[in-house]
Amino acid sequence: RGKRAFIAGIADDNGYGWAIAKSLAAAGAEILVGTWVPALNIFESSLRRGKFDESRKLPDGSLMEITKVYPLDAVYDNPEDVPDDVKANKRYAGSSNWTVQEVVESVKQDFGSIDILVHSLANGPEVSKPLLETSRNGYLAAISASSYSFVSLLKHFVPIMNPGGASISLTYIASERIIPGYGGGMSSAKAALESDTQVLAFEAGRKHKIRVNTISAGPLRSRAAKAIGFIDMMIDYSSANAPLQKELSAEEVGNAAAFLASPLASAITGAVVYVDNGLNAMGVGV
Ligand code: NAI
Repeated sequence: RGKRAFIAGIADDNGYGWAIAKSLAAAGAEILVGTWVPALNIFESSLRRGKFDESRKLPDGSLMEITKVYPLDAVYDNPEDVPDDVKANKRYAGSSNWTVQEVVESVKQDFGSIDILVHSLANGPEVSKPLLETSRNGYLAAISASSYSFVSLLKHFVPIMNPGGASISLTYIASERIIPGYGGGMSSAKAALESDTQVLAFEAGRKHKIRVNTISAGPLRSRAAKAIGFIDMMIDYSSANAPLQKELSAEEVGNAAAFLASPLASAITGAVVYVDNGLNAMGVGV
């Protein structure tokens, strides 16, 4: 039977999550999606109204099918964690069962198991502030949404992941090199995500035969990246300085993710895989 994938962090057709879903679908996987609760209505209605039909096209001409969209807020593990003001928020009150534990329970009830978990989400409320000006709350919020969210998703999904399965997250080189402008503790959050990739590869590998890798992706003009504010500069910088002087397409990251999730990568775990036109290998810009 085909593989089943859960991709957390899709709310439009511009980001890495969408491209990964397409590459996995093209390889024959069934696609389940976790969409941030406040973005759910617009994403689902756009899907229904055919707004994404052009970008749903797969190489064989068919359209990617999303079997089910689950509302998700990956900063909450279970209903007891949700503060009253969020519970009362209109956008949240209209959906139910969107904490990590509840989403996994729903997926288990609906489908029994998954093979592939993709984490393609990040959030840092103070991302535009330098680290020196970042508040404790801003820093912890970045870590919660961008790093612990992966620990939590894997922890809850791993009991229903089939042995031989794989998980993939998205990281950014600001974890290990200085990228001015990627602030608010987001660089710290990516460093945690990469370190956790190693420890979780050991734990999930030994206990469940699950592989854990992260893709360090080059710059893409996604919704999240536009919010940071320097994305066009980063794209220009990469085109000028990377070994491969072309704009990175989301599809190239999607294809690398499909490879990492496949048996072709059966001995790869605990790795940070660069999909960035080689920019990470440069020491100076030329
Ligand atoms: P995106 O905007 O398509 O994806 C981010 C998603 O996270 C959005 O759908 C948003 O709704 C969701 N999200 C935010 N907070 C959430 C929460 N608490 N619970 C559930 N979902 C939540 O943007 P993009 O850029 O494709 O981001 C995907 C991943 O790729 C992120 O981890 C990002 O850091 C990483 N990345 C992006 C790069 C870029 O240049 N765009 C470069 C390297 C890594």
